[in-house]
Amino acid sequence: MNSDSHNAARGHAPIVGVDPASLDQAASILRAGGLVAIPTETVYGLAADATNGVAVASIYMAKGRPSFNPLISHVASLAMAEELAHFSPLARRLAEHFWPGPLTLVLPRKTTCPVSDLATAGLPSIGVRVPQHIATLEIIRRVGCPLAAPSANPSEALSPTTAAHVAAGLGARIDLIVDGGACSAGVESTIIAVGESGAVLLRPGAIARADIELFTGPLGSPDASDGVVAPGMMKRHYAPRARLRLNAIDASAGEAYLAFGAPPPGVLPSLNLSIHGDLTEAASNLFAMLRALDVSHDSIAVQTIPERGLGEAINDRLRRGTLLTRESGV
Ligand code: TXA
Ligand code: MG
Repeated sequence: MNSDSHNAARGHAPIVGVDPASLDQAASILRAGGLVAIPTETVYGLAADATNGVAVASIYMAKGRPSFNPLISHVASLAMAEELAHFSPLARRLAEHFWPGPLTLVLPRKTTCPVSDLATAGLPSIGVRVPQHIATLEIIRRVGCPLAAPSANPSEALSPTTAAHVAAGLGARIDLIVDGGACSAGVESTIIAVGESGAVLLRPGAIARADIELFTGPLGSPDASDGVVAPGMMKRHYAPRARLRLNAIDASAGEAYLAFGAPPPGVLPSLNLSIHGDLTEAASNLFAMLRALDVSHDSIAVQTIPERGLGEAINDRLRRGTLLTRESGV
């Protein structure tokens, strides 16, 4: 059965819990080529059997992705990842320390790797990670093969951090939503490419740069000359409908104010990413708070977020969000 047969029959995807019967149901839909939204510690993923090209194609269709950006293969263990990719000693050290957890490694793909070329967009490399959510690890074990999963949102929209976010964006286009609660980290995984010339930061994410540099030394940045880039790092991404105004020290009439820490004198915040100025808490609140303000406002002013620690990932998402606005028309 391919996902079209699921598509034809379905209305709105049921939302199920993480009891064993629901995990069995998720696994059997995935084995049959269907699409299941799965919880992870970062954001919800839209999963399909990574070895089934038709199922992977239906991920791109459901999201409305304009092009075939490579997808991360989610596995349940380092042993399972080693069936897909070549691990250098450094890559293995990173995996052993950070997995399960929000680190994606981009590594040379093995010739015997069973993942569909569509999932890796024909690249000689593959992105792989072991997510830190017990329900999703159980689903992967039950399916028995890697799951390709981008964030479970329509292309370019905000990433979902609850099952309700997934239902609102993609509920009519997928087969099942597994509700594993609100995502604890709230921003996507940090992506590191490990090659012969060392380690490169392809996307800042839920693990701060400094924590990874303890293992790698100073991380390189993507450089067209050595060909290591994350094609999916489109500039326009993670965008609310409302206009975003960053580093705002005030809010105009009718504008929402999203604070971080103590708001500027005289400004009454609509919401606060973290009253105590905690960047981890701010990351976990980011997408949900942008969504909440997006419903009621056409413009959102955001207080300055420091660039240290998880602030790098938060600011990356905010800057990309400013590039897709109704004013810019793109
Ligand atoms: O936290 C996360 O990483 C979430 C959860 C669901 O795991 N997933 C996620 O997937 O953010 P997605 O598809 O929204 O972003 C994956 C990024 C894209 O920028 C893509 O270009 C990059 O990973 N990527 C995947 N495989 C790659 C490869 N072989 N080489 C370079 N970049 C790759
Ligand atoms: Mg995404």
